[in-house]
Amino acid sequence: MPRVLTFFAILVPVVAVFLVCRSFDVAAHLQLSWPLASHPDSPVDDAQFHVDVPSAGVASDSGILGHGIVVAETGDGGAKHQFRRRIVAVGDLHGDLPNAHKVLQMAGVVDETGQWSGGVDFFVQTGDIIDRGDDTIKLYDWMDQLRGEAKAKGGVVLSHLGNHEWMNVIGDWRYVHASEIHTFGSAQERQKMLMTGRIGKTWAGNYTTTSRLPLHPSLGPPNTDYDPSLLSSLSHAAVSFVHGGLAPNYPDLTPFPSRINNLGHTLLRKLQHRNPPPAPHPPNPYPGLPHDATPAEHRLYGTDGPLWYRGWALDSEAKACKAVDDVLQRTGTRRMIMGHTPDFEKIVSRCNGKIIIIDTGISHAYGGVLSALSIDYTLTPLPKTEGSGEKQWREREVVTALYMDRQDVLAISEQDVVGDF
Ligand SMILES: *[C@@H]1O[C@H](CO)[C@@H](O)[C@H](O)[C@H]1NC(C)=O
Repeated sequence: MPRVLTFFAILVPVVAVFLVCRSFDVAAHLQLSWPLASHPDSPVDDAQFHVDVPSAGVASDSGILGHGIVVAETGDGGAKHQFRRRIVAVGDLHGDLPNAHKVLQMAGVVDETGQWSGGVDFFVQTGDIIDRGDDTIKLYDWMDQLRGEAKAKGGVVLSHLGNHEWMNVIGDWRYVHASEIHTFGSAQERQKMLMTGRIGKTWAGNYTTTSRLPLHPSLGPPNTDYDPSLLSSLSHAAVSFVHGGLAPNYPDLTPFPSRINNLGHTLLRKLQHRNPPPAPHPPNPYPGLPHDATPAEHRLYGTDGPLWYRGWALDSEAKACKAVDDVLQRTGTRRMIMGHTPDFEKIVSRCNGKIIIIDTGISHAYGGVLSALSIDYTLTPLPKTEGSGEKQWREREVVTALYMDRQDVLAISEQDVVGDF
């Protein structure tokens, strides 16, 4: 072959590969490759994308943090009362009860018998309990058991619907294992259970699409809408949870979180009461959303909606960090916590802990690291300064990634606040 032809024969593919890599913004990083679920409307199969998640911006020594923070004595004879709230969040579980149990026990949510331990105030699961494994029924039943036990002990379980819960109720069964169907008896019985049966009922009654969890009770109970007119030094002392992500250009972000959750509620009701329910895909054609689904309900389930969005995980750090503050501002939160896009080695913290991605592929279907996220919030009274009427507090929030063999502190925020809390 003449030299010039050889040269082009090499150059052309090299340039092509370079351009493809650049367009996915992944050229500079090592990639983990895994078949992620693809949105039924997406023109390109996501399985071809590489999951590329840059490493955590802040990761410091583990071990400096025990779960007990010493309560400060103020010594001024005033309120000595420290407020403390502990939250544990876990990502995608995908049909693996034994691994889920290990994680919840490791994080102190349950004891060795799988019962609520009383050691945390809130346990949050960000969706995708179903598919890829066989323990669907056991996992949903266990979540309901914990919900009941938590309530009896003053705790709360917050459960979310992930894209896989929605896929199943839509009739998109591409990621359902045949062995899992057997645990229900038959495909028909499975469908019935997810529509109007036990699992369908708990989805409708106990699961939401997103949530806003205040770190302090003065902001109200979980899922109190953010009120932008509220003037308090704690107004953004809350975190959001969602399966995919709250995209910057998603039009139905506010009022947060009720707008998204109301859309989820009405769409789920339409899906669960389709009569007859659509025959599952495959082998049947993809049924899509019901004919009476509104444009906003379609958008909720769209590729940039809260269930499918991957931008916070896949965009460059520069792009994500530029966009994140606006979303936090509008949702009245300090951090957004989500699952959906796994990193099999670690919980990913970006933009100094403003974005935290907790899907580490816990299920044996993936074989990722077992992990949980812990948020430890304390509000400690400070001694009164002379002449000032208002109470001063030291607010401290420690965000830690928990693994079986170590803990990594992802973020610590500390500030003094004034107010009557
Ligand atoms: C919600 O969870 C509770 C507590 O586990 C359970 O008793 C109840 O049946 C669930 N609600 C629905 C509608 O299934």
